[in-house]
Amino acid sequence: MSQVTEYSEKVMDHFSNPRNMGELENPSGVGTVGNAKCGDIMRMYLDIDDQQVVREAKFKTFGCGAAVATSSMATELVKGKSVNEALDVTNKAVMEALDGLPPVKVHCSLLAEQAIHAALWDYAEKNDLKIEGLKPPVNDIDETEEFYEMGGE
Ligand code: FES
Repeated sequence: MSQVTEYSEKVMDHFSNPRNMGELENPSGVGTVGNAKCGDIMRMYLDIDDQQVVREAKFKTFGCGAAVATSSMATELVKGKSVNEALDVTNKAVMEALDGLPPVKVHCSLLAEQAIHAALWDYAEKNDLKIEGLKPPVNDIDETEEFYEMGGE
């Protein structure tokens, strides 16, 4: 992918009209991650059925525009996928689906990947499952005060 210096139309679209924003009641898995440097926080909710297919995905992001756009796109990409396929929704896949991000915004897409992984990890733990290739979340910040201070519920 050639280097992008400004936001693509798709990024602007997902930023202005985020898909799947909100939360799920009784999610199968929920993961919250944060980036220590910029202080942005993303929470991902997944609803996963008995066939281990992601039926519903929602997010809450307290962060920059690129973080909103990447979480919006990430939820769109994981919906309908099996938990194993959802692992392939990497930050690179999210960026490609958005027609790229400026280099300084790449870490925002990483947050989306980490949030998916954290939610899948939560789902696996709750159901006593092992998802091949899934690693424990690195910075699952859980119910932090910071999240609530930023308007989370
Ligand atoms: Fe930190 Fe975008 S600037 S997530």
